[in-house]
Amino acid sequence: MSSHAISDNKPHNEKPSRRLTSADIAGRKGGEPIVCLTAYDAPTASVVDEHCDVILVGDSLGMVVHGLPSTVGVTLDMMIMHGKAVMRASKKALVVIDLPFGSYEASPQQAFESASRVLAETGAQAIKLESGAYAAETVRFLVERGVPVMGHVGLRPQAVNVAGGFRAKGRTDGERAEIMHEAQSTVAAGAFSIVVEGVAEDLAQDITAQIAAPTIGIGASAACDGQILVTEDMLGLFNWTPKFVKRYGDMRAMMSDAIGAYARDVRARQFPADAQIYRLKAAN
Ligand code: KIV
Repeated sequence: MSSHAISDNKPHNEKPSRRLTSADIAGRKGGEPIVCLTAYDAPTASVVDEHCDVILVGDSLGMVVHGLPSTVGVTLDMMIMHGKAVMRASKKALVVIDLPFGSYEASPQQAFESASRVLAETGAQAIKLESGAYAAETVRFLVERGVPVMGHVGLRPQAVNVAGGFRAKGRTDGERAEIMHEAQSTVAAGAFSIVVEGVAEDLAQDITAQIAAPTIGIGASAACDGQILVTEDMLGLFNWTPKFVKRYGDMRAMMSDAIGAYARDVRARQFPADAQIYRLKAAN
């Protein structure tokens, strides 16, 4: 018995809980829907981890946390910093970290250098990359070298400057064929699952029916093998909500009410009150 086992206070028959793996998620094709949300920080990750199978540290953090106009300005160092926070606060979900714009497109070698840094420095077990048609070679290169890859087709936010904005895809025959090809080649190259974002509903259904890996929909279809949203969007943190988001909370109103009440208390010298202050200890 190793010293590690001796120092463990758990009863001998208790199975240690383990994180879901990319293989577990791949095995859910056509089965129980895969529940995914984003998280970029420790407190959010700890709550998401209680309910979800996958936590995505998405490069959407550039817009949601850092106030950038798109995901194009996000760096690998930002992804690694947020990825570390999410890993510290989660223990059950598979954590997937986005490779940001500019960190993987130049060559499979560049992608491997970025992906291996992400996995080694954060301890996360998988990366996601936006997988246009050109990306199959890179996906294969990564998977063969031990990097589990989640693909991402349809609306690809990192391509916003070519697409001319964030608009739904796959609504013409030409676009449908292109997106189906991207999905098939990404999965044939070894991706364990694939995000399908902002596409016509029946195209998402067709992709889900035709590829062997689970599809994770966002603005896609309830027929996908799983769903993902940006947590802050579904919590209602922003004034504007995209069409494909259902608001499950009204966090902006809750924060504004609480912060407004605090501001009023401070201005009226009603905070701190007795319950929040320290007094001299009574002498013995
Ligand atoms: O960056 C992100 O959060 C994403 C999801 C919305 C799929 O890519």
